[in-house]
Amino acid sequence: GDTLTVLGLESSCDDTAAAVVRQRAGCPPEILSSVVRGQTALHAPFGGVVPEIAARAHAEKIDLCVEQALAAAGVGLGDLDAVAVTAGPGLIGGVLAGVMCAKGICAATGLPLVGVNHLAGHALTPRLTDGLDFPYLMLLASGGHCQFLSVAGVEDFTRLGGTIDDAPGEAFDKTAKLLGLPQPGGPEVERAAMAGDPGRFAFPRPLMDRPGCDMSFSGLKTALLRARDALIAEKGGITVQDRADLCAAFQAAVCDVLAGKAARAVAAAPGARALAVAGGVAANRVIRAALEQVAGDAGLRFVAPPLALCTDNAAMIAWAGLERFRLGARDGMDLIARPRWPL
Ligand code: KG4
Ligand code: ZN
Repeated sequence: GDTLTVLGLESSCDDTAAAVVRQRAGCPPEILSSVVRGQTALHAPFGGVVPEIAARAHAEKIDLCVEQALAAAGVGLGDLDAVAVTAGPGLIGGVLAGVMCAKGICAATGLPLVGVNHLAGHALTPRLTDGLDFPYLMLLASGGHCQFLSVAGVEDFTRLGGTIDDAPGEAFDKTAKLLGLPQPGGPEVERAAMAGDPGRFAFPRPLMDRPGCDMSFSGLKTALLRARDALIAEKGGITVQDRADLCAAFQAAVCDVLAGKAARAVAAAPGARALAVAGGVAANRVIRAALEQVAGDAGLRFVAPPLALCTDNAAMIAWAGLERFRLGARDGMDLIARPRWPL
């Protein structure tokens, strides 16, 4: 029929997730359920995601997530039209756990399998949450990714530029670490920055003098480390105010780079109707406001999906799978898990 119900699975980084999305052709899609099990506590002692630990945890929890997602949606396997799964890019052991689970369900039920690129999942989210029409611009900014995309169709993405080193979320996390703030660092740095003076330290705005949308965030971390060490050398430590000022100056630099490059992306994609964001960094209020301003100045709609759908989740995978399935996409049991898979 023209109503499609799709189960989505996501396990490419440190969240194990399953979700059910339904759409009647021509109507807004509905998220019937979205279950996300994070692994933050498992990785916390190691100061970063440990691939082997992540893979094991995904393999252990993915079946439970599927059961919970189906139960919460009030549907059985027999009510589904397809199973969508993240087939990459990501940590290969985790991606494999999701792909194997999806293949198992499809082998047992005869349901069609649809492989989804994780980045396409993020990039199609504004259509799930806000019904955005093509073409639009997308900034993906998280702990692992940072890129500007022009999105012209379900499988039509043009990468306008991206980070050449660290992702901005990673830079926020490292900044927090250098200043003795807890992880994940983004929200902590944002909170500390509220009481800070962004003008006290002149941190670099890398690559702003170069054309295009490429960005760099690793030098910012080095500049912050130097400023911190200079303060420590001068007076033996840093005060709460110093820390707030360092956070504010760091955040202002990231914000200027993202907003400045967003303006370039807007200029490079004249047909776009909207500027949309996804990824954990999109939760930052200062960055959000700067991007909203860029969109407004260009007469574009600004779309920021709810945070739970900006960060890793399976509803975006179910949705991207549903969109691909409607266009006839089907994968076989030979679907492979890919550690790298550019859009
Ligand atoms: O999208 P996400 O949940 O996971 C992936 O990286 O895939 O993004 C997490 C990242 C972390 O680096 C975190 O510090 C950052 O997003 N983040 C923020 C904020 N909230 C989360 N960065 C800046 N400001 C925030 N408020
Ligand atoms: Zn992601």
